[in-house]
Amino acid sequence: MIYKTLNILKRMTRPSTTLSVILVVASLASCQKNSRPNYQYMPNMYTSVGYETYGEYEVFAGGLEAMAPADNTIARGHSLYGYDNTNAGYDLARATLTNPDAAAVDFERGKAAYDIYCAICHGSQGKGDGYLVKNEKILGVPSYDAREITEGSVYHVIYFGRNTMGSYANQLNEEERWQVSAYVMNLRNALTQN
Ligand code: HEC
Repeated sequence: MIYKTLNILKRMTRPSTTLSVILVVASLASCQKNSRPNYQYMPNMYTSVGYETYGEYEVFAGGLEAMAPADNTIARGHSLYGYDNTNAGYDLARATLTNPDAAAVDFERGKAAYDIYCAICHGSQGKGDGYLVKNEKILGVPSYDAREITEGSVYHVIYFGRNTMGSYANQLNEEERWQVSAYVMNLRNALTQN
């Protein structure tokens, strides 16, 4: 027994053994990469087994994971907008459309969204003198008091855009559109009083 142990110790101290131990450790260490996980003990925890949102997979109709909503459905939190993108639709919205939740109007939030999305053209007071107008990047931006607008028509214009003004329906949700519409009417009132 003692003889065996001594023998092993002797072998371990041989230069060739030491060298090979160093080589093995060095080669293992050289595989170490800090930029990615070296071992994945439970790969499912690292690599998602779910489908990637915009990934291409044969199992889906059309080959894409992201699919168009089913026909005749409305996403939660959205509602139908019953006015057409026509002059008649505009006139109807101007005459009949009102904020369904007027009590929820919050001018601070309206101002915040207006300053982000609208003031660049319309100016912070709605005079039609925003940054892009001053720099002649866009023409024909009216002062709000130059138009016979109502809360409903403003909502309609945010929803569909009008002539050279684009739609802001994707940037502002229904509630925010009403906040901004109310704020625009506030600006217009201030302008007409001067
Ligand atoms: C890129 C510049 C630009 C931005 C940004 C912009 N508008 Fe306009 N807007 C215009 C122009 C140009 C017109 C004139 C369109 C026309 O009637 O020919 C206009 C017209 C309007 C009118 C009058 C339409 C009418 O009924 O006569 C309203 C109200 C209005 N914008 C509201 C907004 C609101 C609210 C926002 C922000 C959500 C906004 N605009 C953002 C360029 C812009």
